[in-house]
Amino acid sequence: MDKERKLIIAGNWKMNKTVAEAIDLVTGLKRDLVAVKEVDIVVCPPFTALSEVSKVVLDSNIRLGAQNMSEHQSGAFTGEIGAGMLKEFSVRYVILGHSERRQFNGETDAMVAAKAIAALAASLKPIICVGELLAEREAGRTEAVVGTQLEGSLKGLTKSQLEESIIAYEPVWAIGTGKVATPQQAQEVHAFIRNRLVAMYDEGTARRVRIQYGGSVKASNARELMSQADVDGALVGGASLEVRGFSDIVKNSI
Ligand code: 13P
Repeated sequence: MDKERKLIIAGNWKMNKTVAEAIDLVTGLKRDLVAVKEVDIVVCPPFTALSEVSKVVLDSNIRLGAQNMSEHQSGAFTGEIGAGMLKEFSVRYVILGHSERRQFNGETDAMVAAKAIAALAASLKPIICVGELLAEREAGRTEAVVGTQLEGSLKGLTKSQLEESIIAYEPVWAIGTGKVATPQQAQEVHAFIRNRLVAMYDEGTARRVRIQYGGSVKASNARELMSQADVDGALVGGASLEVRGFSDIVKNSI
């Protein structure tokens, strides 16, 4: 598939996989995806599996991501993990502001922006998540909600920092529900996001930023979603938990 930007497909394993299971999964992915050069491939295991998974992906085309991090470097923040700790395991990416963290952990746009700035300061690439609830879509508020999240979550990021970042559009109603956005629905919001980035930054910067789609992506719908002009990859939940599920998404997107 000929795309303006290199596709980036990431698996968000969420709170799944013991260390042994994580090793099995990533070993299978490494075998299945060894020949893939056209797509940036990322796996985001839980913190507890980062150490072992990092050993498996060493010298492979699979990069490592985390699912969250603290905006602080170190200190009295019980239960938190800082960027420096992630870097010990060669983590390159970090998912920030996932809707589950916004919903269950009270993360706000301001917190996401602070985390993004801390990640970038440590040379980690943030994957910044935005997306509307079903009720918001039905009320015709998708653009208002996503626009506000973008403005707030990117506050303080410079042009070059934005270019290091990835935006993930994840409509909350499509996450874990099997209800995928149609390729047209995804493209519509992705184009809106890119236009908003043009307004916030400039045309050139906005054109270089990769925007992933997330929400019930699977092997059977990946190709059509990825073929949309402003869809530059996927953030995959459920289907990334099995070797075949994730490797077929990557292969079908090429
Ligand atoms: P599902 O692919 O399970 O819908 O999850 C999407 C997601 O939340 C990825 O971050």
